[in-house]
Amino acid sequence: MRTVAVVGSQWGDEGKGKIVDLLAADADVVVRFQGGNNAAHTLVVNGEKFVLRLVPSGALHDGKVCVVGSGTVVDPFALLEEVDALKKRSFLVGDNRLRLSYDAHMVMPYHRAIDRAREARLGKSAIGTTGFGIGPAYEDKMSRQGLRFDDLVDWKTFREKLERNIAEKNLYLKSVLKAKPLNGGELVEAMQKLRRRILPYLCDTGAFVADAVRRGQRVLFEGAHGTMLDIDYGTYPFVTSSNCIASAVFAGGGLPPGKLDATLGISKAYTTRVGSGPFPSEIHGKLGDRLRSEGGEFGSATGRPRRIGWFDAVLSRYAVRANGMWALAVTKLDVLSGIDPVKICVAYTVGKERHDEMPPARHALAKAKPVYEEMPGWSGSLNGAQSLEDLPPNARRYIERLGELAGVPIAMVGVGASRDATIVLRNPFRD
Ligand code: GDP
Ligand code: IMO
Ligand code: MG
Repeated sequence: MRTVAVVGSQWGDEGKGKIVDLLAADADVVVRFQGGNNAAHTLVVNGEKFVLRLVPSGALHDGKVCVVGSGTVVDPFALLEEVDALKKRSFLVGDNRLRLSYDAHMVMPYHRAIDRAREARLGKSAIGTTGFGIGPAYEDKMSRQGLRFDDLVDWKTFREKLERNIAEKNLYLKSVLKAKPLNGGELVEAMQKLRRRILPYLCDTGAFVADAVRRGQRVLFEGAHGTMLDIDYGTYPFVTSSNCIASAVFAGGGLPPGKLDATLGISKAYTTRVGSGPFPSEIHGKLGDRLRSEGGEFGSATGRPRRIGWFDAVLSRYAVRANGMWALAVTKLDVLSGIDPVKICVAYTVGKERHDEMPPARHALAKAKPVYEEMPGWSGSLNGAQSLEDLPPNARRYIERLGELAGVPIAMVGVGASRDATIVLRNPFRD
């Protein structure tokens, strides 16, 4: 297979970055196609930790081209900070390693200010956004007020558009949100300085990706967030502001429809969520605290504690359908070692009704109670496991059961944070 999408099948933080980094060894091009720096993808390579927010997780391999596609929203200050940090550690060196779409929209400081002021005003009903201005930036894109990197090419018109936007956003911040306005002059000056550094990265990424595919190169598409955070498929309004499922690859990544060979879904061996919203298999109390601490479940973007739950097979079946999933990679199996029994949510009840599949009206999820299946646990370190045979029998049975319930083959199993702590059963680029 030559074109592969990696997507989250839960509420984000499934370990997409780690799997993309692993698969990138066999890819020529790695593409981000949606979202912004609300994403935080952690890679652990040779004991060193990297958190990538905007730069695709192919950056740690020599010679791969990293593309930030038109469907993304990019904070240019954050992007340059990330690029500088990578270059300082001797990654992403060489010409044309990073290509940024002319058509990607910019996240500006006023988007962040609006995001944060709105969340503060919502109080208890807040979505729990990352506060990085992602929603307001996508709003501007859709209302055709957004600034694209294309605009930056002509400074004079860019400046006019930016000043118009600052004036309007400041009015909104002051009068409606009762928040502090921005210093427009400072932002214009900072953008003028930054422009010179951004322009060399600009590229017609749609043409670049289509050409790479035509030439038979291997292209890997790196999803951000997860199916349940998708603006259409997720737990609206407790979602992010983009489509995160595999079909976003076409509009946001430049791949012609029909050219995607496989979608690999990523799921933890349990479930986590950051922010508010329904979570039927959530675990409260001591067991949740234990898994949070053993799994290091604190948001890489914001440091917030992640909510913890059991693996939810209803969600995974839904994600398999939404993404036309070829296979599933299950990460963090090691974190469940020592938990006995382990539970799997196999269905919900809503009132007196049992749902084996996602309830047709999504609002029911808020009232859904989990129906659990229990399996005996296992203990001991899974460190060094390279095949299913290396796992304790109960851990192996658990993985097999997840595949059965999700209705897709299991392609990979994560047994630790580092790149090589992965059991690879199927590699889409080598299949
Ligand atoms: P992403 O946003 O989907 O890329 O996931 P994050 O990087 O935000 O969160 C996943 C966390 O789990 C990171 O800290 C990874 O280093 C870590 N991780 C990934 N796979 C495994 C695994 O199999 N075992 C363990 N223990 N940690 C893992
Ligand atoms: P990765 O790619 C986990 C969540 C936020 C919040 C909601 C909306 O690392 O898996 P936003 O700032 O996007 O408007 O916030 O979406 N969220 C994520 N949760 N991982 C992510 O990305 C997320 N990106 C957004 O916590 O609930
Ligand atoms: Mg993450």
